[in-house]
Amino acid sequence: MKIIEDISEMQSLAGSARGAGTAITLVPTMGFLHAGHEELLRVARGKAGFLILSIFVNPAQFGPNEDYKTYPRDMDADIKVALSSGVDCVFAPRPEEMYPDGFQTYTQVERLSMGLCGEARPGHFKGVATVVLKLFNIVMPHVAVFGKKDYQQFVLIRRMVRDLNLDVEVVGVETVRESDGLAMSSRNSYLDADERKAAVCIPRALDEARSALSGEDAQAVIRMVKKNIENEPLAVIEYIKVCDKDTLQALDRIEAGAMLLLAVRIGKTRLIDNCLFTG
Ligand code: PAF
Repeated sequence: MKIIEDISEMQSLAGSARGAGTAITLVPTMGFLHAGHEELLRVARGKAGFLILSIFVNPAQFGPNEDYKTYPRDMDADIKVALSSGVDCVFAPRPEEMYPDGFQTYTQVERLSMGLCGEARPGHFKGVATVVLKLFNIVMPHVAVFGKKDYQQFVLIRRMVRDLNLDVEVVGVETVRESDGLAMSSRNSYLDADERKAAVCIPRALDEARSALSGEDAQAVIRMVKKNIENEPLAVIEYIKVCDKDTLQALDRIEAGAMLLLAVRIGKTRLIDNCLFTG
């Protein structure tokens, strides 16, 4: 397995693989890999001739008061996961090479960046779209794999690929959960023991929401989820919305393709999750 930091080295290795007709699959991550990432790598391995895992904590997607500096990092553990997942190449570029002095070109997916997480994290999705486009330009993957826990991110990247005619298949992978239902996230490591117990209010509320029937009033479902989460004193709701799964526009009623998306703070940790109504 190769470990590459230099952008030009990555470009030339990926260029040779592409030139030789090998299918390249990219799994972009910020590292601190967990079972959710392993699932992305498992799906990607099934598709790839050459599997590239990128590990880059992207400063451009963190706000000034967010956790860029403290975001968990463990390259040695990540390399072990990469080896056991059959990764061919880890690409871990240096921030100063990704964003050199004078950098000023950003990508913005306009409507899909607004609302939901975009409201509380202005500029976040501009940073995500920019780094993903840069990674696509460097690696030129045929396939790129993303988790659906970050659902707004997934839809937005899919839109960017269509809008900018990028020749990449975007694959979304279902959320992997802990045994009590909490969605896997690198940020779960911020939770102390009490907060970790409290966080289970999120998957429990989503489980109850899933039983909503087609035609039900979306606001009534939102009220039910809100009430369940508010029973947990450590939880502070940022948003709970029912939206169309493709446009992310708010819906009045539950219908096939409706999705409930939420962000909740448990102590200082911001957690997001979602569920799809099957109708
Ligand atoms: O989901 C993530 O880990 C990040 O937002 C991504 C897609 C790797 C871009 O930095």
